Amino acid sequence: MTSTAEKSPQEQIAAALRIRYGTDFPVAPDQTGIDGLARIANHRSIRRYRPDPLAPDLLRLLCACALSAPTKSDLQQADIIHVADPDRRQRIVAHLPDMAWIADAPAFLVFCGNNRRIRHIGGWRGKPFANEHLDHFMNAAVDAGIAMMNFISAAEAAGLGTCPISGIRNAVDTVSRELELPEGVFPVAGLCVGYPASAGHISPRLPLEVTVHTDRYDETGLREKVDAYDRRRHDNHPYGKQRRTALFGTAEFYGWSEDKARQYAEPERADFGAYIRRQGFSLK
Ligand SMILES: Cc1cc2nc3c(=O)[nH]c(=O)nc-3n(C[C@H](O)[C@H](O)[C@H](O)COP(=O)(O)O)c2cc1C
Repeated sequence: MTSTAEKSPQEQIAAALRIRYGTDFPVAPDQTGIDGLARIANHRSIRRYRPDPLAPDLLRLLCACALSAPTKSDLQQADIIHVADPDRRQRIVAHLPDMAWIADAPAFLVFCGNNRRIRHIGGWRGKPFANEHLDHFMNAAVDAGIAMMNFISAAEAAGLGTCPISGIRNAVDTVSRELELPEGVFPVAGLCVGYPASAGHISPRLPLEVTVHTDRYDETGLREKVDAYDRRRHDNHPYGKQRRTALFGTAEFYGWSEDKARQYAEPERADFGAYIRRQGFSLK
């Protein structure tokens, strides 16, 4: 791994955010929580792991940190499934040919939204369930996403690397069967966890001028800003290969926006809504 140990937290933040956003962010020398900020600024998804196992107590601690996340109305609608059985994990990974490396991660978790418990609770308390609507599904999905992010932050603080895997939703019926998900419980994303075998890289983001707004939504100059981001990102970390060349040809300049436009030119997981309805959500 690239060592950041010799850099001060201020220098780590400056270096990371310069790559991330192509600009400087002043940090007060006496800024509270500087080490935590440096860790967050340095985030990178990790897809290669050392074989060292994750101690069960550490995994349990990270799950406890993850589920310390805020939760909508204190409903606690997120669950974590640790896929400990390698055969079970392999049966899931077999459906993700582009992501065979998932099998090498020392730990693999699936973060789920769970609307089942609150329905049980209503039944036990003799109350009707009057929230058969999309917002209720979204609350559980957001809870699971926030819990996963808390896990990622906790894991990075403990020196681990992670990579979320929404790819499991490509094989949602298999995942659901393998994990024996009952009605009311659905997978949001998998998460690979392990000690990094490589430093990974800082993935540049759109500038804050595009994604952070003051008082009102504003997309002035959006196209030019995305073009500039494409070029900055390409200079920093060009794509290794182009997507769907059989359909779209080989582009002379292949940036982020071309890649994302190609990705979303074809439906992705169009069957997921039907699966969620089968899991008992009407999404009204
Ligand atoms: C909900 C979610 C699902 C993701 N699913 C996958 C996935 O299936 N496979 C993968 O390799 N990376 C996946 N990622 C990781 C993203 O590709 C990664 O976050 C993005 O490229 C930015 O890189 P960074 O996390 O290193 O900043 C996912 C990330 C999120 C938040």
